[in-house]
Amino acid sequence: MTDDIYKIAFIGGGNMACALINGLIGNGYPSTEILVSDPSEAAKNSLSKQHQIEFMSDNKSAVRYADIVVLAVKPQILKEVVLELSSVIQVQTVVVSIAAGVPISALQKWFGRSIPIVRSMPNTPTMLMLGATGMHANRHVTIEKCSIVERIFSTVGYTCWLQNEKDIDSVTAVSGSSPAYFFLIFEIMQRVAEDFGLSPSVAKNLILQTAKGSVEMALNSHSEVGELRSQVTSPGGTTEQAIATLRAGNLDLLIFKAMKAALERAQKLSEEYGQ
Ligand SMILES: NC(=O)c1ccc[n+]([C@@H]2O[C@H](COP(=O)([O-])OP(=O)(O)OC[C@H]3O[C@@H](n4cnc5c(N)ncnc54)[C@H](OP(=O)(O)O)[C@@H]3O)[C@@H](O)[C@H]2O)c1
Repeated sequence: MTDDIYKIAFIGGGNMACALINGLIGNGYPSTEILVSDPSEAAKNSLSKQHQIEFMSDNKSAVRYADIVVLAVKPQILKEVVLELSSVIQVQTVVVSIAAGVPISALQKWFGRSIPIVRSMPNTPTMLMLGATGMHANRHVTIEKCSIVERIFSTVGYTCWLQNEKDIDSVTAVSGSSPAYFFLIFEIMQRVAEDFGLSPSVAKNLILQTAKGSVEMALNSHSEVGELRSQVTSPGGTTEQAIATLRAGNLDLLIFKAMKAALERAQKLSEEYGQ
């Protein structure tokens, strides 16, 4: 991490921008160095209640003074927003995109020139500062600017750099979409627990607390997750029966197929935007 301070402009002040701004300011980044541009009064009201940051309704003005521009609008309007900014963006300004599925080549094409771009893939737990973000920088981004971009995302969770942009599609399948995989498993387990006769609230609490505890154990242990699993699977015990049933139902193959389907969809979206 670096202590260098740059002017950061967020284009779009919705959920993701709020999470990143909370993370930055919560970790000591000066609010005076953060600008937000968003036409929505709701976004303005929500952000200005929490922080004393400069708010604009004109994207071009926000970008003119920024060293880092975070594009935090929905992917459907990204092209229109980038085309609007293309006349004012400076060649040294680093653009950070969090838009799912939009490749750097598409952004370059819309900007009409080669500029420093970081493409990132955060996930929803970012809003609780427990996110996981994969990032890829094109060759125009300096090491110094990479560290400030890393600082933005590391205030809200785990970050990793990817050498190849195509690995962003893998990150989408592995951590971008996976909160939903876990929620589905919790839903199924809760239904079963209720079928066993537990009340919905007891079932939910038992499952979520166990999931939270298991994650903490895995994060705090020197053992691999497979070893932790073996440690709670006594021969002839209850857990062994459950694991054997999951294996017999080919859980490994099912998870492989699900993640592969997410990866292929992410690749398709990247291809479509890249055309
Ligand atoms: N949420 C996630 O978990 C997640 C995870 C990974 C990546 N992402 C990516 O993050 C990006 C933002 O998602 P989000 O969930 O934060 O969306 P969001 O809450 O809808 O925020 C987008 C904001 O942009 C505003 N906006 C609309 N048009 C604009 C314009 N022309 N100029 C500036 N601002 C404009 C919207 O205002 P209105 O509401 O008035 O339209 C809204 O306040 C998306 O590209 C998404 O793919 C999100």
